Amino acid sequence: MWCLELLLPLLFLSDVSGQWNVWVPRDISAMTNSCVVIPCTFMYPSGIRPYRGTHGIWYFGQPYPQLFPPVVFKSRTDVVHESYKGRSKLLGDLNQRNCTLLINNVGSEHSGRYYFRADLGGANMYTYPDFAELKVLDQPNIDVPEEIVSDESLELTCYAPDNCPDMTPEIQWMYTDYLPDPEFSSDYVEESNTAVLSSTLTFIPRPMHNGQLLGCRVYYSNTTLVYERLISLDIKYAPRSVWVNVSSEVMEGSSVTLHCEVDSNPPSRISWMFGDQEVVWDTASNISLSLDDVTPAQEGLYTCVGDNSYGAMNTSLYLAVKYPPREPQVNESVTVVEGASLALHCSTQGSPAPTLTWLKDGELVGTITADELSVLEISEITPQGDGLYRCLAENEHGRASSSLNVTVEYAPVLLDESKCTVVREGVQCVCMATGNPEPAIEFYLPDLNVTINETDGRFNFYTHTDGHTSTGMIKLREKGERVENGPAVNVHCSISNVYGRESVLLELQQEKKYMMAVIVGTIGGVAVIAFIIAAVRYVGHNNKKENGNPRQDVVLENPALYYSAVKKDKQNLRKKVVRHASEYDGGRPSQIVWAQSRRLLRQSCWAQSLTPF
Ligand SMILES: *[C@@H]1O[C@H](CO)[C@@H](O)[C@H](O)[C@H]1NC(C)=O
Ligand SMILES: *[C@@H]1O[C@H](CO)[C@@H](O)[C@H](O)[C@H]1NC(C)=O
Ligand SMILES: *[C@@H]1O[C@H](CO)[C@@H](O)[C@H](O)[C@H]1NC(C)=O
Ligand SMILES: *[C@@H]1O[C@H](CO)[C@@H](O)[C@H](O)[C@H]1NC(C)=O
Ligand SMILES: *[C@@H]1O[C@H](CO)[C@@H](O)[C@H](O)[C@H]1NC(C)=O
Ligand SMILES: *[C@@H]1O[C@H](CO)[C@@H](O)[C@H](O)[C@H]1NC(C)=O
Ligand SMILES: *[C@@H]1O[C@H](CO)[C@@H](O)[C@H](O)[C@H]1NC(C)=O
Ligand SMILES: *[C@@H]1O[C@H](CO)[C@@H](O)[C@H](O)[C@H]1NC(C)=O
Ligand SMILES: *[C@@H]1O[C@H](CO)[C@@H](O)[C@H](O)[C@H]1NC(C)=O
Repeated sequence: MWCLELLLPLLFLSDVSGQWNVWVPRDISAMTNSCVVIPCTFMYPSGIRPYRGTHGIWYFGQPYPQLFPPVVFKSRTDVVHESYKGRSKLLGDLNQRNCTLLINNVGSEHSGRYYFRADLGGANMYTYPDFAELKVLDQPNIDVPEEIVSDESLELTCYAPDNCPDMTPEIQWMYTDYLPDPEFSSDYVEESNTAVLSSTLTFIPRPMHNGQLLGCRVYYSNTTLVYERLISLDIKYAPRSVWVNVSSEVMEGSSVTLHCEVDSNPPSRISWMFGDQEVVWDTASNISLSLDDVTPAQEGLYTCVGDNSYGAMNTSLYLAVKYPPREPQVNESVTVVEGASLALHCSTQGSPAPTLTWLKDGELVGTITADELSVLEISEITPQGDGLYRCLAENEHGRASSSLNVTVEYAPVLLDESKCTVVREGVQCVCMATGNPEPAIEFYLPDLNVTINETDGRFNFYTHTDGHTSTGMIKLREKGERVENGPAVNVHCSISNVYGRESVLLELQQEKKYMMAVIVGTIGGVAVIAFIIAAVRYVGHNNKKENGNPRQDVVLENPALYYSAVKKDKQNLRKKVVRHASEYDGGRPSQIVWAQSRRLLRQSCWAQSLTPF
């Protein structure tokens, strides 16, 4: 098996002759407790004739005899170093320049350099500087690629030295059960006179195999010698899972931690992205994103990206931020004119989306909507539409509301309370009207061609305004002088604001409940039917105290007749009276009424003589 061509380049000694040569394997290995044969041949200068045979010595460690290196073998004696006693044996025939050495039962202490020294007798002794380096292994070697990448075919080779002639190693792979379709192949390589048996395991590693153990066992049949080496697979793989929390919801103001765990080898650069903005990153197996005092602006899609040099992967979650409704935005308070149509807008934010409800003065108006915007449409608003409108936003986390006032402006309307009544000093006329803006009240006495209003200081005019209701009051007193046959005094009340004006004839009543009002002015100059209540019985408390007051005589002629007729229908005094008059046209009672009324009118000095004061 020695191949000269192979050995030739190995050595050329510094010796001038160039003939001191040895051929030993530079490296040779053996399993502990097995044996090793170090093949060896040597040359010496042809001029030398060995004296008394060719001898040789094997040294361990170093070549210099003067340093007394341990003797492994010596052909002249059998004195060898302690650790080689009974172990070493020269297999070669020195005379054949064959210095092949056997060491049995090698241990790790035998690892090292072995030098051969030729002893040809006399001074012809020479230690060859070339050595064989023995490695005594207690485990087989496994060739593992520097980088094992998932899903790429992997070859692992286990080596067993085969340099012990009596013992043949065998190689077995261990823990391969879980591997998908493992393939095994053996090889036997001889090199530099040393032999190595190898077994190659081929399979496609997967991420799941990362960190798993594989083993190679070397053993010698019919011995108890077993050698094992275990390796842990380090399989590189791109992120294969990016785990994040399930999408979740948090209350505004609270804290939340989003966790991300990436399965990859090596660990990925993990980052949390909010939208396309990177919030936090680290190179680790997991990363946490802590959000304190969460705001609605932080609601959205969070993506965790894992990236190592083998690939990238991402997973997203949606973080919902819950919060009670914000104060709704509603229109500014508005002032509109009766009959106008308007739309009130209310919008708010909240999560979950709030419902919106419109309330007017506490009562539900419109529909409850779940939209972001609720529009309350009011068409042709009436004065009753005036009020406080509140938009209420509610969700499960709270409620909020905003209000606005809708002010409806409208033309004046005369109230039922308007009337003239007889009082002790004369006649008191009250005029009440609502309107917005509140109506101005003015009295007009057409008979006297007198207008009485607030700004006119000449008369005793009392006004009062309460909200949209205005009240005006005047008192007319008997002047003393009576004008015979003069017309009755009519009192007109004029109510006005920017939206209209009405003029009303106030009727004189004997009882508070009876008020006669005839619209005169605004509705188009209709002729006023002056209707004067003829008989007034003033049964007031005050009058009783003032027996003998002349006005009683004047005013009250025969009130019973009229009064009884009136009592039948309080609802429509005027109509009733007129109808009675015609019904009893030929009859006495009606004539009496009429006659007495007329006489009363003529005689009614109060009418003519009353003057405002
Ligand atoms: C040297 O001796 C050994 C053992 O006897 C033998 O196996 C080997 O072939 C010899 N080498 C040469 C080159 O003759
Ligand atoms: C092991 O021993 C058995 C008998 O004991 C023998 O048949 C077999 O050849 C031996 N194997 C080796 C490798 O020496
Ligand atoms: C996310 O998962 C981690 C770990 O399981 C947990 O501690 C954390 O509270 C979770 N966060 C949310 C918002 O569920
Ligand atoms: C998260 O990573 C840290 C180191 O960055 C590690 O100590 C911890 O065990 C990991 N947690 C999990 C659940 O993997
Ligand atoms: C997440 O992965 C998808 C493909 O799986 C890719 O289109 C997207 O750009 C990735 N997103 C981020 C933020 O890396
Ligand atoms: C209320 O506001 C909305 C939008 O801001 C507007 O369209 C609407 O006309 C407003 N309504 C009133 C009565 O001002
Ligand atoms: C509505 O009017 C009332 C009474 O005039 C007032 O107290 C309140 O502040 C007003 N509200 C708004 C929103 O203008
Ligand atoms: C009423 O008085 C005004 C002046 O105060 C006068 O101009 C007007 O002509 C009078 N009208 C009547 C009908 O007398
Ligand atoms: C009140 O009446 C006088 C005349 O009688 C008039 O000049 C004045 O404008 C009136 N004022 C109002 C507020 O109507």
